[in-house]
Amino acid sequence: MQQRWNDILWNKFIPMLRLEFTANQPKLNEADVMPLTNQVIIPDDDVPIEQPNNLKIPLHVIKTCTHDFNERNFIGKGGYGRVYKGTLTWADHINQLVAVKRLDVTRFQGFCNDNKEMILVYEYATNGSLDAYLHDTSMFGGLSWPQLFKICMGVVSALDYLHNHVAEKHRIIHRDVKSANILLDENWNAKLSDFGLARIGLANQRNTFVITNLAGTYGYTDPQYERTGFLTKESDVYSLGVVLFEVLCGRLAYVSGYHDERRFLHHLARTCYKNGELDKIIDQRIKKDIKPRTLSKFSTIAYRCLHKNREERPTIADIASQLTEAWKIQFTR
Ligand SMILES: Nc1ncnc2c1ncn2[C@@H]1O[C@H](COP(=O)(O)OP(=O)(O)OP(=O)(O)O)[C@@H](O)[C@H]1O
Ligand SMILES: [Mg+2]
Repeated sequence: MQQRWNDILWNKFIPMLRLEFTANQPKLNEADVMPLTNQVIIPDDDVPIEQPNNLKIPLHVIKTCTHDFNERNFIGKGGYGRVYKGTLTWADHINQLVAVKRLDVTRFQGFCNDNKEMILVYEYATNGSLDAYLHDTSMFGGLSWPQLFKICMGVVSALDYLHNHVAEKHRIIHRDVKSANILLDENWNAKLSDFGLARIGLANQRNTFVITNLAGTYGYTDPQYERTGFLTKESDVYSLGVVLFEVLCGRLAYVSGYHDERRFLHHLARTCYKNGELDKIIDQRIKKDIKPRTLSKFSTIAYRCLHKNREERPTIADIASQLTEAWKIQFTR
């Protein structure tokens, strides 16, 4: 199991190299949640799996590697804190590029009763996060349609793993699928990040996760989850649908600069798809490269993900098989 878990971390997700969590843990008793600790609990076995000790890195090493969280090392800021680039030299990790997320402890008052550092260290994704390329589609010459399609396939495969293969009777719901959490390695492979963090405060029943505090990101969140507070795997499917349209349209889910129907992509995409007007919103840069039948399959599955009623949304396995067909149409003669 340890081997399997490591494989997942390194192949499909952004691995977390270290977790320094000095505050008290939230009280989570369920066997199949992933609390923010240096343990990962695999539901199948109900056995906590320790990450190797050499992943526990002292704070002074982190400080050295980020030049004491110097602003020149600052990469970005998310809902949980600021992220810094660093060069880590610790144990087997010699001059390894890392992304250091310094959690904003004030956001964790619910279960943090001291003000010590809370830091996560991840493998650095050389090509950053997908949202940057959608915000500015000309960045580095822009991503090509095959590159974008491959990224989508990678994300679907990662989610398929979380939903269907992580354990026999359980699944993991990511809860914050969005282009900012899709990181790109040096070969432009997609790696889904931040799924561990999203589990905080989560209790689950077999297939349905019930949560007490709403989480997620504006423009990506399942409306049914927003309304009821019930999170299911279909909530991830909804957010994935938004990402698929982001890729197709070369823009982000939410653009504050728009003060009309373009503001929210989920709304715009649904309307244009229904009216047969996708042409209006597809990224002109990649449009000529998408075969019509590929476009039809790709947009249909994305549209189905956005169904307001979660029972009507496709499963991730269904999405994987539809996209594979679309891929074959696109790339085989
Ligand atoms: N491992 C990494 N490698 C390279 N860049 C990263 C890495 N992790 C995060 N980043 C960059 O830092 C930015 C902030 O990340 P962070 O995860 O804190 O916020 P977010 O993804 O925008 O929102 P959320 O807090 O909901 O996850 C990301 O948008 C990404 O560009
Ligand atoms: Mg993130």
